[in-house]
Amino acid sequence: MKLWGGRFQKETDKQVDDFNSSIRFDARMYREDITGSMAHAKMLGQQHIIDPAEAELIVKTLGEILEDIEAGNVEFLVDAEDIHMNVEKLLTDRIGAAGKRLHTGRSRNDQVALDIRMYLMAQEKEIASLLKALLGVLTELAKKHLHTIMPGYTHLQKAQPITFAHHLMAYAQMFMRDADRIADCHKRTAVMPLGSGALAGTTYPLDREFVREQLGFSKITDNSLDGVSDRDFALELAADLSILMVHLSRFCEELILWSSHEFSFVEMDDAYSTGSSIMPQKKNPDVAELIRGKSGRVFGSLMGLLTMMKGLPLAYNKDMQEDKEQIFDAVDTVLLCLPVFTNMLSTMKIHEDVMYKGAGGGFTNATDAADYLVKKGLPFREAHEILGKLVYYCIGKGCALDALTLDEYKQFSPVFEEDIYRAISLEACVAERSLPGGPAEEAVLASITRCEQFIKNFSL
Ligand code: ARG
Repeated sequence: MKLWGGRFQKETDKQVDDFNSSIRFDARMYREDITGSMAHAKMLGQQHIIDPAEAELIVKTLGEILEDIEAGNVEFLVDAEDIHMNVEKLLTDRIGAAGKRLHTGRSRNDQVALDIRMYLMAQEKEIASLLKALLGVLTELAKKHLHTIMPGYTHLQKAQPITFAHHLMAYAQMFMRDADRIADCHKRTAVMPLGSGALAGTTYPLDREFVREQLGFSKITDNSLDGVSDRDFALELAADLSILMVHLSRFCEELILWSSHEFSFVEMDDAYSTGSSIMPQKKNPDVAELIRGKSGRVFGSLMGLLTMMKGLPLAYNKDMQEDKEQIFDAVDTVLLCLPVFTNMLSTMKIHEDVMYKGAGGGFTNATDAADYLVKKGLPFREAHEILGKLVYYCIGKGCALDALTLDEYKQFSPVFEEDIYRAISLEACVAERSLPGGPAEEAVLASITRCEQFIKNFSL
């Protein structure tokens, strides 16, 4: 018979049991379910809501059940529906009457909210620490490439020279924001819902603060209806993870592009590439492609969660059982992608010479040549026009700006002098951009230092 079978005259249809049951995906919350129940039982004993000796027996037996599950000695039952009732059934099978007192002053509605919050709190910590490891690799790599000049792009057309360090640190900014967002979401995840009951709280004198403290939450929920029906923390996490995946996906797209024969800026380590079953020469950046591809799963989870929650009346509805597969898949995907991405990055070969050569073509120093004229007193629009004509002239000649003679320069403006060549060297183009946030060495170094401080101070 079901734990709730009292008012029923018939067994549940087998098909309905399978359909209704969530054990195949919520079993992974067994640890949270058991530690949550231990704290609840301890509190019930302390408050003399149940006999303290029975509370002690419950806590002890739950500990044994936990060990048995971890040792692989427990088989969960589909007809016990979910992890909450599976654990309760294991408990009552072992200690009978005492076990039946555990659910006093509690509902599965506040219990499941507790479990999923606890589970996600741990996952958020894990993701934050993986982000820190990735930031560590980015800063180390950036320090090595402060002088590695490469072309910067807009519209995927060569724009202005930057350094590889500057490019890497752009991603570091994104990943720091991701970590911050997850930390912010963590604040709203770490709110303890037990005591909300099914929806309207409970008449027992529960000590909610004691349970909160035992389980490492920072506050208790403030409204019992909201306590059982809030899934904002899961929506928020899915949104944060979606943004994180956008960042990984953009980075992967660049690495894929840069690994192509046409770019050849980087080469993935053999250990992070795969071959082709037909083309012997192939070395494919599959890891980067898969991460780019997996971003879709995470966005899908966010959309699934939003759609599932939209329009639900207060308070708990069974629809909400669907939250788990979505958020678990989003978390699993990110946990899978982050470490492999970090290692791929740290083992990748960088072709500095090709990057440098790439920075030279495509008139990436044309803005600097215009700025040169401005510094000599010309209005910027006029300088822009002169440079436009110069570039057109160079295209006709098939040469770069620095290949022109001073006489040729002077045909376009008498203001040009010998110092134009230094002003438009790639090194000068980068070094002159030393404002905070720019690609010059001192600016990037300052940015690296701030990122290192972030890594040191950030904790969840
Ligand atoms: N397995 C359920 C879920 O994941 C637990 C809560 C069920 N509550 C209920 N009243 N049926 O949402």
